[in-house]
Amino acid sequence: MNGLYARDTAALAQVQKLRFFPQAVVGGKGAILRTDDGREVIDLSAAWGAASLGYGHPALVAAVSAAVSDPAGASVLSSANGPATALAERLIALFPSDQPQKVWLGHSGSDANETAIRAARRATGRQGIIGFAGAYHGCTLGTMAVSGHPTLASDKADGLIQLPYPGADPSGPDADAILRELEDQLALVGAQTIAACIFEPILSDGGLVVPPSGFLARLDALCRKHGILTISDEVKVGLGRTGRLHAFQHEGFRPDLLVLGKGLGCGLPLSAVIGPQWVMDCATAFAMQTLHGNPVCAAAGLAVLDTLTAESLPDEAARKGKILLASLQDLARRHGSIAAVRGRGLAIGVEISNSGTKLPSDAAATAALMFRAYELGLVVYCVGPSSNVLELTPPLTITEAEINHGLVLLDAAIQDLLAGRIDVNVTVKFAGW
Ligand SMILES: Cc1ncc(COP(=O)(O)O)c(C=O)c1O
Repeated sequence: MNGLYARDTAALAQVQKLRFFPQAVVGGKGAILRTDDGREVIDLSAAWGAASLGYGHPALVAAVSAAVSDPAGASVLSSANGPATALAERLIALFPSDQPQKVWLGHSGSDANETAIRAARRATGRQGIIGFAGAYHGCTLGTMAVSGHPTLASDKADGLIQLPYPGADPSGPDADAILRELEDQLALVGAQTIAACIFEPILSDGGLVVPPSGFLARLDALCRKHGILTISDEVKVGLGRTGRLHAFQHEGFRPDLLVLGKGLGCGLPLSAVIGPQWVMDCATAFAMQTLHGNPVCAAAGLAVLDTLTAESLPDEAARKGKILLASLQDLARRHGSIAAVRGRGLAIGVEISNSGTKLPSDAAATAALMFRAYELGLVVYCVGPSSNVLELTPPLTITEAEINHGLVLLDAAIQDLLAGRIDVNVTVKFAGW
């Protein structure tokens, strides 16, 4: 274990860690991170999708440097500031509606989803929420209470209707059955008690599951019929990652509220909720934190939006995603330890099995594989209820050469896994989820 990682272990709280190997980073450029032990590694996670433009993108450096050197205050609570206003205007323009829309700015996916839920409840005067098993909406009390991910096993919100996510369990109910179950539940509890339905357009931490085509549009239509607001949590897969600007656009409907985070700030704490004015203006001094809407993070958000357009990153994500998916499918044909490959754009899941290894579970095989991949120079993390799905969410700016090099490293790591060349006594210390 190197020096920086040992100091981190001694000083930083375990409660905020989700570690898969002793990664210690001192700098980065594009999709490449420099580690404390002098190596360069390819980051196919982009820090869980946050580093949307990669590390140290010149547009971000310029925008943030300018904003921090002559800051327009430090908060939007009691003063307007240029970057926050411009960012809100841009986000409204990017999520067009024939009804007036407003934007809330926050720091994280968690605070944004919490705000969306609270505002939906206040505006509708209803308490109930519809959510999904396996869904990860954040690590605050309110978002944990509507999430379905096993890590967030807190008390659930009163009146929560939790549905299976279609496709997450191949032997589970299909889209038709899930929608019928929802109708039954609504009839039982009274649809007029339900404020909102929150969903991930791709179930990410729940196993990188793309829902069957048409499911989300039908869910949206059913909710709309009962005056239930729909909230698309695009914190991880929004803003170009799926090959469209917004992930819901693949499905031909428009949710009432859109939640963005992670990649919006490209490494700076920034999130947003965009929704109908009657919801977003439901109260004053209701969902605020001092540094919300600060001009530095808002300037970062504007730089991200500019760069998405200037570098055609949604199209690039679609193009490079196809290359990555095809190469992974090829890898899966060669290695039985890849059970499935799925995804959309640059949000791809690779399901690992322990077949061909002597390891006791798929999770143990995945842990060993991630550890070895890092030793070889590749950063990739895992998701899923069984901790056996590698989640690939690289920077949208990653080059084809970097993708190919990452795949060579993954291939080598799988070969080491199958040959029993990985010391699992070391890897089990990094249990992950
Ligand atoms: C879909 C989704 N929503 C919300 C969150 C929470 O975001 P944050 O960790 O920025 O609070 C995450 C984080 O992984 C996420 O994937």
